[in-house]
Amino acid sequence: MRLDKFLSQHNIGTRSEVKKILKNGRIRVNGEIVKAPEMQIGETDIILADERVISHQELYYYMFHKPAGCVSACSDREHETVMDYFKGCDRFDELFPVGRLDKDTEGLLIVTNDGDFSHRLTSPGKHVEKRYYFRSAEPLDADAVSRMAQGITLRDGTKCSPAGLLLREEAAHDKNGCLSEDALIKSGGASMAEGILTITEGAYHQVKRMVAACGGRVIYLKRLSIGNLSLDPNLGKGAYRELTEEEKCLAISPFAEKI
Ligand code: URA
Repeated sequence: MRLDKFLSQHNIGTRSEVKKILKNGRIRVNGEIVKAPEMQIGETDIILADERVISHQELYYYMFHKPAGCVSACSDREHETVMDYFKGCDRFDELFPVGRLDKDTEGLLIVTNDGDFSHRLTSPGKHVEKRYYFRSAEPLDADAVSRMAQGITLRDGTKCSPAGLLLREEAAHDKNGCLSEDALIKSGGASMAEGILTITEGAYHQVKRMVAACGGRVIYLKRLSIGNLSLDPNLGKGAYRELTEEEKCLAISPFAEKI
């Protein structure tokens, strides 16, 4: 296989990013710096990107639209798991979900057999942005947006990294902005605020706790994106499909920032 194809298949970057990485002398084959993208490599060659060995294992990446009601684990005695949806997939035995969404959270989940990729996406030091849509049963405090932007402090005293909050608090209001019973009923009776929160952390119940620290109570949560990778709107709940080469790089292109 060509070296550039191997590198992009192993998530080092897009074909054009890989060209630059090669040009910058950051790839070694069996100890020698190689700059030629067309070089043919085989299973026994040892490939290093910077100091990292790139395994020859075939890697698979899937976008999964997690429905509510299943847990983000490979197995569970009590509950349905996200992996139950992959039972028909040939590679089922190797795969695992990248990070966790709560049982009642919906949305984008990546499933892969690439441990390194998973680590880089979930590692707190990498600050990969995740975007969540939420609905809250309570309105958020008036200063929620600025407190989130500064880095909110949770009720247990944990200080969060700065987060982006886009808020729409009209679900229970009429056209004139007044609290309206009619609008409340139309909105399902509960939602008092909805918004999009962009965070770079992923601790237990991160979004729910951040919203709670602003007086809200999350009653619906959906992950919309990870890095620059968005949930495919054509992918129904419970469905999955392979990521394209471009999409893998959108989620995280570990070498791109250093080019
Ligand atoms: N934050 C939460 O509170 N729950 C999730 O599932 C993901 C992020």
